[in-house]
Amino acid sequence: MNYRHIFHAGNFADVFKHVVLSLLLKSLARKDAPFCYLDTHAGAGRYDLSSAAAQKTGEYRDGIKRLWNDQPMPELADYLAAVRALNDGQTLRYYPGSPRVARFFLRPQDRAVLLELQPQECTQLKAEFAGDRQVLVQGQDGYAGLKAFLPPKERRGLVLIDPPYESDREFEQVIEGLRMAHARWDSGMYALWYPIKSRPPVERFHRMLVATGISKILLAEFSPYPEDSAFRLNGCGMVVINPPWKLDETLHSVLPALLKQLRQHPAGHSTLTWLVPE
Ligand SMILES: C[S@@+](CC[C@H](N)C(=O)[O-])C[C@H]1O[C@@H](n2cnc3c(N)ncnc32)[C@H](O)[C@@H]1O
Repeated sequence: MNYRHIFHAGNFADVFKHVVLSLLLKSLARKDAPFCYLDTHAGAGRYDLSSAAAQKTGEYRDGIKRLWNDQPMPELADYLAAVRALNDGQTLRYYPGSPRVARFFLRPQDRAVLLELQPQECTQLKAEFAGDRQVLVQGQDGYAGLKAFLPPKERRGLVLIDPPYESDREFEQVIEGLRMAHARWDSGMYALWYPIKSRPPVERFHRMLVATGISKILLAEFSPYPEDSAFRLNGCGMVVINPPWKLDETLHSVLPALLKQLRQHPAGHSTLTWLVPE
């Protein structure tokens, strides 16, 4: 486990992922009934963009930094409010990981379960939420957590699966995890992030998703770069299972607007497709 998210915090992939995450959480918060948020690969929770690691790559400059001073379109306002909540005034210093983004949307009746296997990241995550009675942090394997924590007693909620894809087997592992989780809790909302370097592995992944037999699978893809180099993160996607009503319509306008701000090349593009329809 060499992956450290601090090198990538706030980059285009984080912005895309956390915008979608914010829309999902916002929709869950529309009903009074409590919901549970489960984050299988939670990371540290908060990232200091002034740190040597974040400055070394500077990836956030082509991500959150480009949005920071803008007047956001209404659909991005909640996401940006979650980022602003960690920062004083006009200076962008901290970027929220998915746990902090999610915490922004929790009401007193909701809770979050955060799993992180890497010991240092987990220590930071525990410190970030110390004393927060709505948040449980566990240093355990995210896939094992799908078994341990699903279905949640609230019977409403969202599972984010956001692994580092360090190993070639991670695509198989997420499919297995998803299959098992869905068998335990088929009405839950699932969001699964994946990298796009070149097309063939992504198409194989899509075929594996279809083969699970799970329905209501929406795919959002966001590629600021052309997909012509297998050595760079050209884009990324989010699989959303059981998406909220009209999420597709919202993303239909949000993704092109986001792309306009984060595009790195004229061949950059975003797509939205129902892989398996309702
Ligand atoms: C892409 S990062 C997560 C970023 C975070 N979800 C966010 O959006 O801010 C992936 C995280 O998964 C952790 N990790 C790796 N393997 C894991 C496993 N089997 N179970 C839980 N966490 C794991 C890594 O240490 C890393 O912090």
